[in-house]
This record gives sequence, C-alpha cells and structure tokens, in this order.
Amino acid sequence: MLSNKNILLCVTGGIAVYKAVALVSKLTQAGAHVKVIMSESAMEFVQPLSFQVMSKNDVYFDTFDEKDSSVIAHIDLSDWADLIIVAPATANSIGKLANGIADNMITTTLLATTAPVWIAPAMNVHMYDHPAVIRNINRLSQDGYEFIEPSEGYLACGYVGKGRLEEPEKITALAAKFFQPKEQPLKGKKVIVSAGPTRERIDPVRYLTNFSSGKMGYAMAKAARDLGANVTLVSGPVDLPKPQGIHIVNVESAQEMLEAVLAEYETTDIAIKTAAVADYRPKNQQQQKMKKQAGDSVIELERTTDILKTLGEQKTHQLLIGFAAETNDVLHYAQGKLAKKNADYIVANDVSKTDRGFGADENTVTLVGHGDYVESFPSLNKDVLAKKLLEHILKREGLMK
Ligand code: PMT
Repeated sequence: MLSNKNILLCVTGGIAVYKAVALVSKLTQAGAHVKVIMSESAMEFVQPLSFQVMSKNDVYFDTFDEKDSSVIAHIDLSDWADLIIVAPATANSIGKLANGIADNMITTTLLATTAPVWIAPAMNVHMYDHPAVIRNINRLSQDGYEFIEPSEGYLACGYVGKGRLEEPEKITALAAKFFQPKEQPLKGKKVIVSAGPTRERIDPVRYLTNFSSGKMGYAMAKAARDLGANVTLVSGPVDLPKPQGIHIVNVESAQEMLEAVLAEYETTDIAIKTAAVADYRPKNQQQQKMKKQAGDSVIELERTTDILKTLGEQKTHQLLIGFAAETNDVLHYAQGKLAKKNADYIVANDVSKTDRGFGADENTVTLVGHGDYVESFPSLNKDVLAKKLLEHILKREGLMK
C-alpha cells in the first residue's frame, strides 16, 4: 500500500527510539521509501547505523553537514516527503515545534515542510498529562498537525499508564490507510461550506450568539475534501483545529459570512450552509461599552440577511444544501425551508435532545429533498454522518456510484 511513497521519519530522543527502528522496517516492507533524521538525544539511545541499514538511506542529524552540495538538505527533505512522521516525539520537541523554534535538523525541516506531519508522542505518563505538554499538543492540533496518541501500558520509567509509542504495525497501517486511493467524485469541483455560529456585537465587549461549535460544518468540509473537492470553509468563531487541505475564511457576523460566501458563490459547484447564522442583530451597535442604567433595558434588534435564501435566489448551476435545526415538527419545517429557500436539500436536524446537535459530537438528522425525498439517519458521530450525507446526495445526483 505504501509503494513509492516518500516517508520522512523524525526520531527524537527517548527510550522508544528502538521502536522507531522497527517502524522503518515495517514502512520499507510495505513499499515506502524512508529517510530518517535523528536528534542528538535520539543518537544517545540508538546509533544512526541501525536506521541507515533499515532504510538503505543516509541518516541525517546535522543541519550543517550538507552531504550533497547541489541542495540544502533540510529543504530538500521537507520537499521530498509525502508524509512526515515524528516518532517518538518527546515533550521537548513537541514544545519547540509548538513555539516555532528551529534549532536542529528536525525542527528546521518541520518548519520548512508543507507535507502532512504526524506526531507520535512517547513519554512518562505525568509528562504527557503536564499542562504545558497538553497546551503544546492543543496548539499543534490547531495548527493542523495530526497526533498518533500514545497507548497505555508498562512504561520504561516503571509507571503503568499512557505514554507508550504506538506500535510500529499500527503506525504503518495508519500510513497505508492515508495513502489508500479514494474515490474522488468531487475532483475538480468547488465546494463552499459555512460553519459555526455568528457573533452580532452589541458593544465592544458584548455580543449575541448561539451554541454552535462548528463541528458539523467542519465535518462536512473534511468529508468534501476527502471526496476530492476544492473546499472553502467560511467559519464563524469556533475553537476547532484547522483542517488540512481546506481554505479557511474566518468571519464573525452574519453580514461578514454573507459577503464571504457571495464572493465565492459564482464559481462554486456545491454550497453547504451548516452555520447557525443569527436571524437578528442589534439595530445600533454601540461604539462605547454600554453603561448600567436604573431599571430594565431594551436592545432593539433588526433582521440579518438570510444567506441561504439569498443563495437560493441567485442560484444558477449550484447545488444548494441547507441545514435546519428544529425542536419540533422537524420534517414539516424542513420541507417548508426547502421550498422557501430554493434549496436542493435540507438536512433537518433534531436538536430537541441536549446530547445531540449544537455543541455535541453526534447529530440526528433527516435528509429532505425534492420529489418527497426523505432519508432518516440514526444518531451518528458528526464525521461519520457528514460522509454519509454527502454520499447519499452525490449518489442521488448521479455524481457518485
Ligand atoms: O456547530 P455544531 O455544534 O456542530 O452544531 C451543528 C448545527 C446544529 C449548528 C447544524 O447541524 C445545524 O443544524 N445548522 C443550522 C442551524 C440553524 O441555524 O438552522 P436555521 O433553521 O436557523 O437555518 C436554516 C438554514 O438557513 C441554515 O442552513 C442556516 O445556515 C441558514 N441561514 C439562517 C439564517 C440566516 N440569516 N442565514 C442563513 O443562511
């Protein structure tokens, strides 16, 4: 499965370095070309020769030891790689990368690459639970790095807990899955997805919003990307990692979301409106912080533009998919929105239960289309659901087998 794939393995210093030798062996047996960079500490545990023998390639460890004068090694390696795996990744290297420090061959190469980077931490269980390490991992996740979580078990330091480098067989299987040729029915198509809530400012320190986390919209964007689409994600303010391979436009208010979506609409093939857009905004946004007054206060609200409806009105060739969050008569309201907003599909979202819908990891939806098309889905994880929704729609549209 890894035939002719270029995998760069960055080995940092921990006792799990010996497992990285086995990882090179598994990756090369699966057909990958593997090159290895070692940190100085990694070389305290295992000699570079072991990696050289397993990879049949030179091992790199010194940024200034240029083996080939026609290239700059760390740039050449970062361009060569189809995938970079940091295994084992120490707390120290994770911390450096999270802070943009480039003080050795590994960190310099990682900053220079545009290839996907997977980080497989291995360390003492208390180190892994340390707030600084958690903070650095979260920051890197938000920057788009993927993590291969350590497994639980007996650790070299004597503790039993989470911190063991994931097994080489498992990492190799993940890499094989990553490179598996996927059906790409959306190749060459442009998809725009809106996600998350909007914020409608009352004054410089207060705003109106809702509980949308952006999870469903981000899942739709990733599912479209995985089907080969060129995806633009217009995102309200959310706290989610930036997905790789997706163009993100950050917006705050309904008006900004409208402008961002319209700017791309003409060249869009599929528009998916998952965002929970505010229906109202304060009529007068105060420039100064509002002062407390005696008695009650009233904020006058005005309607925002209905983005989905606007897209429905301006539709030429686009496939338009809306969402509808309802607490009752879900199907009835969704069918009404399908007609009123000139959408092709509405994903009717039952948000009557608190463990689903807004903010939750799961959603319960019914897909509604023209010609009395109704397809109900069980309660599903949003990533799984997003794939299923797109597959159903694309099959119905004759875009997928
Ligand atoms: O973000 P999560 O926490 O993962 O939660 C996901 C979700 C519950 C937000 C999502 O699944 C969902 O149901 N999104 C639509 C929520 C909603 O606001 O529905 P609505 O009935 O108010 O709007 C119907 C459709 O019109 C939506 O496609 C909405 O994007 C669109 N709309 C609404 C108002 C407006 N001013 N402009 C719009 O385009």
